[in-house]
Amino acid sequence: MLFFVDTANLDHIREASELGILDGVTTNPSLMAKEGVSGEKNILKHYRDICAIVGEGRDVSAEVIATDFKGMVEEGKRLADLHENIVVKVPMIREGVKAIAYFTDAGIRTNCTLVFSAGQALLAAKAGATYLSPFIGRIDDIGWDGMALIKEIAEIYNNSGFDTAILAASIRSPLHIIEAAKAGADVVTCPLSAILGLLNHPLTDIGLEKFLEDHRKANG
Ligand code: G3P
Repeated sequence: MLFFVDTANLDHIREASELGILDGVTTNPSLMAKEGVSGEKNILKHYRDICAIVGEGRDVSAEVIATDFKGMVEEGKRLADLHENIVVKVPMIREGVKAIAYFTDAGIRTNCTLVFSAGQALLAAKAGATYLSPFIGRIDDIGWDGMALIKEIAEIYNNSGFDTAILAASIRSPLHIIEAAKAGADVVTCPLSAILGLLNHPLTDIGLEKFLEDHRKANG
């Protein structure tokens, strides 16, 4: 399973990259706004900066703002031209499905976002989406079972032989990451804090302290 970091924060992306476990980055308009990045010129520069940090072969999802087919295609092409790492992120709406099919034919990789049902997952895969982003946390937020959706989509994609990668998004905790891996996600995208949370175990800390103490005793 691949690890993407879900942020537009350059320090967090750098930190995840330095950890040596980073496979890619996802952003969205809210995450860009959170970093104070606005205006087309600055937004495009920020995507280029992200691509430079992650290095070759690591996908960076950049989301279109347009919601009509023509606008999505124009914007998506501009984004894809920025850097070979760029994957065009397109919302799961009627015009978005059309745009994904267009980008697929044009050899431009896509990430279909704001996915909340198996039916939407089927449509995105039929259109040839490279990645599918079901929003786990937001489904949990309304009292439904986000991880059950990942399992359902994994079953459908396996049965149908779709190549679309399941990118579990709106991941909020280390447990979400583990559950997504068990449920059949190909990728998780999450805040750096959720990834770092996987590190922690009290027995590791206790064990290390004991090893070092024994070494100190034996070596003076
Ligand atoms: O990748 C989608 C993600 O950014 C949404 O996460 O926590 O806002 O639901 P959240």
